[in-house]
Amino acid sequence: MDDKSHTMRAIPTVKVEDSGGLTAEQLADFRSAGVLVLEDFVPVSDCHRLREHALKLVGEFDPESVRSVFSAMEQTQLGDTYFEQSGDKIRFFFEQDAFDADGNLRQSKEDSLNKMGHAMHDLDSVFDAFSRTPELAAIVDSLGYDDPVILQSMYIFKPPRIGGEVHCHQDSTFLYTEPESCIGFWFALEDVTLENGCMHFIPGGHKGPLKELHYRDTDGTMTFKTLDDTPWPENATVAAEVKAGSVVVFDGRAPHLSGANLSDKSRHAYTLHVIDRKSHYPAENWLQRSASLPLRGFN
Ligand code: FE2
Repeated sequence: MDDKSHTMRAIPTVKVEDSGGLTAEQLADFRSAGVLVLEDFVPVSDCHRLREHALKLVGEFDPESVRSVFSAMEQTQLGDTYFEQSGDKIRFFFEQDAFDADGNLRQSKEDSLNKMGHAMHDLDSVFDAFSRTPELAAIVDSLGYDDPVILQSMYIFKPPRIGGEVHCHQDSTFLYTEPESCIGFWFALEDVTLENGCMHFIPGGHKGPLKELHYRDTDGTMTFKTLDDTPWPENATVAAEVKAGSVVVFDGRAPHLSGANLSDKSRHAYTLHVIDRKSHYPAENWLQRSASLPLRGFN
């Protein structure tokens, strides 16, 4: 990591004035920090609509249908398979602390879920419309993507009281391409604060190397390979407290984490990850799609 990253203490925050994508100055801010907040990017009414729709899908989801997967609640092989085959599906994942010792949910169903993923944007018309807007397409275009495709979508619940902490990582570790092309778009569907577990970034940290690679080993199990064992710099993270309707754009190498949500407020967010179709996508990546659901861009 270069020295600048240790002194850069702010996440650039901008307003996109028209649908023409990022200006040269905004783009320069993004390239420098590896993260950029777009304030008021999505109408709050659209955020509410997506939240209501997500809760409708949750209402239709029967936990009993996958109870065997969750009963153990540890990283069982069955649970791994449920996750690893979700790249082209809509599946639900519970928080680590969702179940009590008897295997019953401690809170309501919607307040027990960690996330929903990973192909709502291609399988659900409401998520499709939210994900493929001309405004977002223009941002991606201004970032220099020739042939962008939306690789995955996640609806993050971060529920009150049990929303788990996420340790510092880089998303290109999990969504690796050659050359690297992963970029994340994190939509705040509700106001996000330190209290309900906002994201934190190391501005400039994307200029350092990719530290880990998550890949499928020859025996079929997913594993991590350390590429660089330098520890993350201490006290370098900056909180991204943002209002509903903001979008956090971040480089696939941008180091980030999020705190636990111990508050009584939910912290719903929606994320998209985009890659360039022209980059090589390894067969060893966890996320694989069936040929019947090819990746799509913004059209
Ligand atoms: Fe991440």
